[in-house]
Amino acid sequence: MATTLASHSLGHCLLPLLLLLLLLLLLLLLLVSSDAQISRNFTSGSSLIARDNNSFLASPNGDFAFGFQQVGSGGFLLAIWFNKVPERTVVWSANGDSLVQTGSRVQLTTDGEFMLNDPKGKQMWKADLNSTGVAYAAMLDTGNFVLAGHNSTYLWQSFNHPTDTILPTQILNQDSKLVARFSEVNYSSGRFMLILQTDGNLVLYTIDFPMDSNNYAYWATATVLSGFQVIYNESGDIYLIGNNRIKLSDVLSNKKPTGEFYQRAILEYDGVFRQYVHPKSAGSGAPMAWSPLSAFIPENICTNITASTGSGACGFNSYCTLGDHQRPICKCPPGYTFLDPHNEVKGCRQDFYPEICDEGSHETGRFDFERMTNVDWPTSDYDRFQLFTEDDCRKACLEDCFCAVAIFRDGDCWKKKIPLSNGRFESTNDRIALIKVEKKNSSFPHGGEGFKDKHESILILAGSVLLGSSVLLNVLLLLATATFILRLYCRKPAIIESQQVMVGRNLQSFTYHELEEATNGFKDELGKGAFGTVYKGSCNGNLVAVKKLERMVKEGEREFETEVSAIVRTNHKNLVQLLGFCNEGLHRLLVYEFMSNGSLATFLFGSSRPKWHQRIQIILGTAKGLLYLHEECSIQTIHCDIKPQNILLDDSLTARISDFGLAKFLKTDQTRTMTGIRGTKGYVAPEWFKTVPITVKVDVYSFGIVLLELIFCRKNFEVEAEDKSPVVLAELAYYCYKEGKLDMLLDNDEEALEDMERLEKFVMIAFWCIQDDPHQRPGMKKVTQMLEGAIEVSSPPDSSSFTLSV
Ligand SMILES: *[C@@H]1O[C@H](CO)[C@@H](O)[C@H](O)[C@H]1NC(C)=O
Ligand SMILES: *[C@@H]1O[C@H](CO)[C@@H](O)[C@H](O)[C@H]1NC(C)=O
Ligand SMILES: *[C@@H]1O[C@H](CO)[C@@H](O)[C@H](O)[C@H]1NC(C)=O
Ligand SMILES: *[C@@H]1O[C@H](CO)[C@@H](O)[C@H](O)[C@H]1NC(C)=O
Ligand SMILES: *[C@@H]1O[C@H](CO)[C@@H](O)[C@H](O)[C@H]1NC(C)=O
Ligand SMILES: *[C@@H]1O[C@H](CO)[C@@H](O)[C@H](O)[C@H]1NC(C)=O
Ligand SMILES: *[C@@H]1O[C@H](CO)[C@@H](O)[C@H](O)[C@H]1NC(C)=O
Ligand SMILES: *[C@@H]1O[C@H](CO)[C@@H](O)[C@H](O)[C@H]1NC(C)=O
Repeated sequence: MATTLASHSLGHCLLPLLLLLLLLLLLLLLLVSSDAQISRNFTSGSSLIARDNNSFLASPNGDFAFGFQQVGSGGFLLAIWFNKVPERTVVWSANGDSLVQTGSRVQLTTDGEFMLNDPKGKQMWKADLNSTGVAYAAMLDTGNFVLAGHNSTYLWQSFNHPTDTILPTQILNQDSKLVARFSEVNYSSGRFMLILQTDGNLVLYTIDFPMDSNNYAYWATATVLSGFQVIYNESGDIYLIGNNRIKLSDVLSNKKPTGEFYQRAILEYDGVFRQYVHPKSAGSGAPMAWSPLSAFIPENICTNITASTGSGACGFNSYCTLGDHQRPICKCPPGYTFLDPHNEVKGCRQDFYPEICDEGSHETGRFDFERMTNVDWPTSDYDRFQLFTEDDCRKACLEDCFCAVAIFRDGDCWKKKIPLSNGRFESTNDRIALIKVEKKNSSFPHGGEGFKDKHESILILAGSVLLGSSVLLNVLLLLATATFILRLYCRKPAIIESQQVMVGRNLQSFTYHELEEATNGFKDELGKGAFGTVYKGSCNGNLVAVKKLERMVKEGEREFETEVSAIVRTNHKNLVQLLGFCNEGLHRLLVYEFMSNGSLATFLFGSSRPKWHQRIQIILGTAKGLLYLHEECSIQTIHCDIKPQNILLDDSLTARISDFGLAKFLKTDQTRTMTGIRGTKGYVAPEWFKTVPITVKVDVYSFGIVLLELIFCRKNFEVEAEDKSPVVLAELAYYCYKEGKLDMLLDNDEEALEDMERLEKFVMIAFWCIQDDPHQRPGMKKVTQMLEGAIEVSSPPDSSSFTLSV
């Protein structure tokens, strides 16, 4: 009985005990494998894995954390940050130049090394130690992350390897440096450096980006042979001490008590060394955000950086002006635009072709001056005159094709040449800057020389195997391929800029009701297109065309507005300007300027034949509009549907391209309809039906066809009678061109016949445009130059190089 009892009670006890043991074991395993968040010190063998923002090790009081921070969609940064400040301010990072992917691991190996490996095990960073044998790693309350040996001495500390920030209690020793990051949110090394040199001088340098060598010193303490350490003490003062430990000079200092404020000093991406404070708790009344203190180094970076080479604080052809907190702001002078609107320090380009300095070829009538005060580019002089009046100075610059800007002061006149460097705005500078710009009415094509060729061809693998299948299957495949390509390429032509406009330009947002009233209940129909119906309307006394988008892609209201804001940013005299939009429920409408002379289709193929000089104007206008869409606006746009119906004419018969930027709104079945139309009309480039790259050259092809139609006032594709095969204009024109009988196609068009040389040149340009091989077709810039006679037109290849009917 007793034995049974005993064994019974033992059994009772054993089970929970075993369970407990198991649990403990599991817990231990969990701790050791440490995939979960670690809030204690790192010990040998433990690691952190990059997964979300929650894999970190916090300091005992929780002020700082060490671990992974996700940076945009680029990956993870191994970093130290203020852990109680909502905007996760990074003060140190290990891998700003190469972010790591999810699953990467930072670990303290069993043999005492501390390293960061990517998911495949490749080493991305390692703490460089004098000796191995790290026993543990700890995040301290000061923001210092330390690797300690078995006897608790620090073998490595983040305070000795700063990135761009220093914290109270941190010391910069000789040869320590801070390197600015590339931008506010990009932790790659940037363009500036603060270094306490081994010679004792504390210096701010520009860096030969993207190399890391220093270039030009723009601030220094001049403490050669005496500077020893930069100290950021607990009360928030930053100062340089000498070898004798006595203070040599103040670097930055502030009066905010460290007990109530977090603080840091950072060499920011703009090259300025600033100190920031953030209240620790909401009670203080100060805003719960980082605010810069009022001392900065240097005081004026715009003027402090003035090297004989290099662009200065901002990029070439721009100028620098100081904003709040000594922040440099880069601006383009009038007649210039940013090379890259996302990166303003890259500089500006001229909006026009620079003058050609061939003998006698510069045209003084083309240019004018914009007058600015307080702006100068002190290092770009190449000529100087004295005892001049402002008018003499203007004239001297106007007549000199090298001269981009003239600076005038008290009878002194300096000529400056491109690229302009070290540009700055200084209110104390009383010089007058005369900036050479192109006159508004100039007929010269726009777009600077240095403009990058944005023709990015994108490979498409439509992969339809046309051989050996039935006709029906082929047709279906063709349609599917075209649809696919259309959707793919017309949706996102090149870069989409970040949303910032909408407010800038006068784009109005209308309610559906307002547009219903403006169009008198959608009564007066102007036409129907691939995108829906267009109605005439009146808005504040101005005539408008209201386009009701039908059968549009349903999803993404925000996308609609983004696209609309992209369209509104394209602004050129040969494009129909978008004035407003309506995005309400299922209603999507666009409001455009009203074009009093209708479309080119009615104008050209109507009852009376337009004059040759009018047609030339339309040809040039259309070419310039397309050139703008392809190469000059910030968002490269492939129109995808250039045809006379989409070229409208305003009061003065100026060609205005419409429906650009809309191809991306089309639904699948809509594109199919469009393809059908194009197929019969023959404005479509052959590559739509092939497995080759689709580029802006599809528009060049369509332009070539329209060009022929404009030259001869005939439709490209005309069925004269049911039983006859259709006449293809391109084919006919090629035949006549070869035989030297282009006049046969001109039906007594006297004006054109008298201008035969130009007409023949235009015909040759058209043949270049409709080459089967997109690479053979010129870009719109070259087309425009050829049309304007700026460059010669060579003989086009023979007719076998282009397919004449689809
Ligand atoms: C991590 O934080 C960053 C910046 O605060 C944020 O952009 C990102 O979405 C966060 N990631 C996750 C997974 O929460
Ligand atoms: C940061 O900027 C550098 C230099 O332009 C660039 O190479 C890098 O891709 C950028 N990184 C991120 C995450 O955007
Ligand atoms: C954690 O780090 C602190 C600071 O160095 C140290 O005092 C403490 O002993 C460490 N704890 C463990 C468990 O290693
Ligand atoms: C602690 O250990 C390191 C090597 O790990 C050694 O260089 C140092 O002298 C030791 N310090 C003390 C106080 O023992
Ligand atoms: C590591 O080596 C450097 C010189 O190479 C020396 O200045 C420093 O004191 C060493 N640190 C430790 C912890 O031994
Ligand atoms: C930069 O500006 C400071 C004044 O803020 C001036 O003392 C210093 O000499 C300037 N440095 C250079 C290199 O021009
Ligand atoms: C920090 O430095 C300033 C200026 O040298 C000094 O007035 C202050 O007492 C120092 N604070 C501490 C805690 O040492
Ligand atoms: C452009 O304007 C100038 C005056 O500013 C005038 O002399 C010139 O004839 C105009 N050119 C054209 C093509 O209208």
